Amino acid sequence: MESRKNYYITTPIYYPSDNLHIGHAYTTVAGDCLARFKRMSGYDVHYLTGTDEHGQKIERTARSQGMEPLDFINPIVDSIQALWKKLLITNDDFIRTTEARHEKVVQALFQKVYEQGDIYMAEYQGWYCTPCETLFTERQLAEGKCPDCGREVEVVKEESYFFNMAKYADRLLDHIEGHPDFIQPESRRNEVVSFIKMGLEDLCVSRTSFSWGVPVPFNDKHVVYVWFDALINYLSAIGLGVDDKAFNERWPADVHIMAKDILRFHAIIWPIMLMALDLPLPKKVYAHGWIMLEGGKMSKSKGNVVDPVILVDKYGVDAVRYYLAKELTFGQDGIYSEEMMAGRINSDLANDLGNLISRTVAMIIRYFKGRIPEPAEAAPLDEELKELAAKVYQEATDKLERLDLSGYLIAVMRLVSRANKYIDETEPWLLAKDEARIGRLAEVMYNLAECIRMVLILTAPVMPTLASRANQQLNLFKDANSLTWAEAGRWGLTVAGSPVQKGEVLFPRIDLKSLEEKPVEENQQEKSAQEVIKAEPVAPVEPEYITIDDFAKMELRVAEVVACEKMEKADKLLILKVRLGEEERTVVSGIAQHYAPEELIGKKVVLVANLKPTKLRGVMSQGMILAASDADHVEVLFVDQIPSGNRVK
Ligand code: MSP
Repeated sequence: MESRKNYYITTPIYYPSDNLHIGHAYTTVAGDCLARFKRMSGYDVHYLTGTDEHGQKIERTARSQGMEPLDFINPIVDSIQALWKKLLITNDDFIRTTEARHEKVVQALFQKVYEQGDIYMAEYQGWYCTPCETLFTERQLAEGKCPDCGREVEVVKEESYFFNMAKYADRLLDHIEGHPDFIQPESRRNEVVSFIKMGLEDLCVSRTSFSWGVPVPFNDKHVVYVWFDALINYLSAIGLGVDDKAFNERWPADVHIMAKDILRFHAIIWPIMLMALDLPLPKKVYAHGWIMLEGGKMSKSKGNVVDPVILVDKYGVDAVRYYLAKELTFGQDGIYSEEMMAGRINSDLANDLGNLISRTVAMIIRYFKGRIPEPAEAAPLDEELKELAAKVYQEATDKLERLDLSGYLIAVMRLVSRANKYIDETEPWLLAKDEARIGRLAEVMYNLAECIRMVLILTAPVMPTLASRANQQLNLFKDANSLTWAEAGRWGLTVAGSPVQKGEVLFPRIDLKSLEEKPVEENQQEKSAQEVIKAEPVAPVEPEYITIDDFAKMELRVAEVVACEKMEKADKLLILKVRLGEEERTVVSGIAQHYAPEELIGKKVVLVANLKPTKLRGVMSQGMILAASDADHVEVLFVDQIPSGNRVK
C-alpha cells in the first residue's frame, strides 16, 4: 500500500507570560486551516504548536510575583491549551520547552555546534531588550532604544558564547535565491535578503545574568539563549536523536507559520543553525501581517488585548475562525474591531451563506416534501453555475496552498453569492405555480443542494462545525466529520432522495446596536415591542379622523419574503428577510402560530416601511407586516402581481 505523504506544519511556540490574545489565535487558526485542508486532501499531517518557557522575561515576571517560574507558567500553559481546544485547533502535539524531551536535544545540538567550532567564547558588550529577548549591538539600536519594539534596553557586559553566523551568510543567500518559495510572501523575502546583505554579526547564544534556561552542557554558569533554545522545538518535538524514523518522515517541515515580527529568527538564524547542524532547511517560512487595533498594535504590555475565549462564547467558533481567516489580506496587516467582526459575520455568514442554506431547505421542504429531487430539466444558466463552481474549487485550492486565507474565502463566497443570485434568476416560487415546470424546479433545487454541498466542504477547514450542523438539515454527507477535499471539485455527488428538514439557525444575525447597549435596556425595549404586538385596539369615544396627509406619512410598501425562520425560544415570533426592490430588511413578526416559514417564502406582503426600527428578543426589526385578525386567526395581506418595493396607498 502506498504510504500517505507527510505534511509538517508549525506555529511559533508562544511565551506563556500571559494569556494569549486574538493575534496569537490568528496564527494558530491559520495553521489549523492548512492542517485540516491537507488532511482532507489525503496528507498525513503533523501540526505542532507549544510554549516557549525559558528566558529572562518569564523569570522576572514570575519572581516579581514571588513565584517559581514553572509554578507561574503552568496555569497559563493550561489556559493556552484550553484556548486551542475552544478554537477546535487540531494540533497533533504541544511542545513545552521545559520538557526533558526538548532540553536534552538543545544540549546535544549546542554541544555539536560547539565541537565543530561554530560556537566560540568571547567577551560581549551589548544592549538587551527583555520583552523581545534580543541582544543588540550599539549600531543596531534605534535612537538608543530597541529597534523592534521601541522600548528601553539594558546594557549587558558578560562572557558569552557566540555563534558564527557570517560563515553561512552566502550559502543562505544562495538558498533563498534558488528556492523562491522559501520565504513567503515575496515582499518579506526581499526584506530578509537586504538584511543579510547588510552583513550578519555573530549571534550571542548564551547568558550568565540569569538562570531560567537550558544549561550549556559543558559550562553550567551559562544558559542557552532563549531563541537558540526555542527554535530547536521544531526538531525536538518530532524525535530528533530519539526516533530517527519518525524524525526523517517529518523533517524538513513543510511550513513554519508566524507573523512578520519574528521572521528574521526563522528566515536567518534558524536556517543557519540548521546548516551548521547539517540538516535540511524547512520548505517554507511564511510570515503574515499583524492584527492591529484602531489604536495600534495589540500587546499585552499595552493592556489592549482582545480575548478570543469571550468572542467564541459570544459568536461561536465557526464565526470567529471565519472572521480571523478572512480579515487579514495576504501578507498585510489588518484592523480588528468587534463591530467589524459582527458586520462581517452578518453579511457573509448570516445573510449570504446562512440564507442560502435556509432558503434552499425551506423550498425543498415546501416543493418536494422534504426530499432532494432528482435533477430533471437543465438550462444554459446551470452551466454558468457549474463552471463557476469548478473555478472556485480550483482557486480555493490554490489560495489555501499558498496560505492566502482571505483570498481562499473570497473565492468560496463568490460561489455562495452566485447561488443566491441563481435563486433570484430562476424564481422557484414562480416555477412552483406551474405544474409543467416541476422538472425545472427539481433541477434548480438539486443544483442549489450541490452548491451547498461544495461550499460546506470548501469551508470545512475554516469552520469545523458547520458541515455537520448543516448536515442535520440537508443530509448531504454520510459523515460530515470526514470530508474529502476532492469531492468539492466534482459536480453531481449529491444523492437525490435525501431527506431535508428544518433546523437551527446556522448563523444568528448579530444586532450591531446591541454591541453598545446594556442588556437591561434590551429587555425593556423587547417588552414594549411585544406589548405592541398583543395590544387590543381600544375604541375611542368619538372617532378621531386623520387627514390624507396623516395617512401619507405612513410608508406602506410591497415586500417580498426571501427567507423566513422561527426565532429560537420564541413561540410566536418569525424572523423574515424581505426585499423592497434592491433593499433587504429583517422583520420580526408575531405570526409564528399562524404561518409556517415555508408558507411565506416567495410571497409578497405589505410592510410599514418607515416604522421606527425596534428590537425584539435581540433582533432588530425594520418594519411591520400588515395582517388582519380576529380572536383566533391572523391573515397576512398578500400582494400578487405588483413588484416588490412599490408603494401601497
Ligand atoms: N516565543 C517566541 C516565538 C518562538 S518560535 C520558535 C514569540 N512568542 S510570542 O508569544 O510573542 O508570539 C509571537 C507570535 O504570535 C507572532 O509571530 C504571531 O504568530 C503571533 N502574534 C502575536 N500578536 C499578533 C498580532 N497582533 N497579530 C498577528 N499575529 C500575532 O515570539
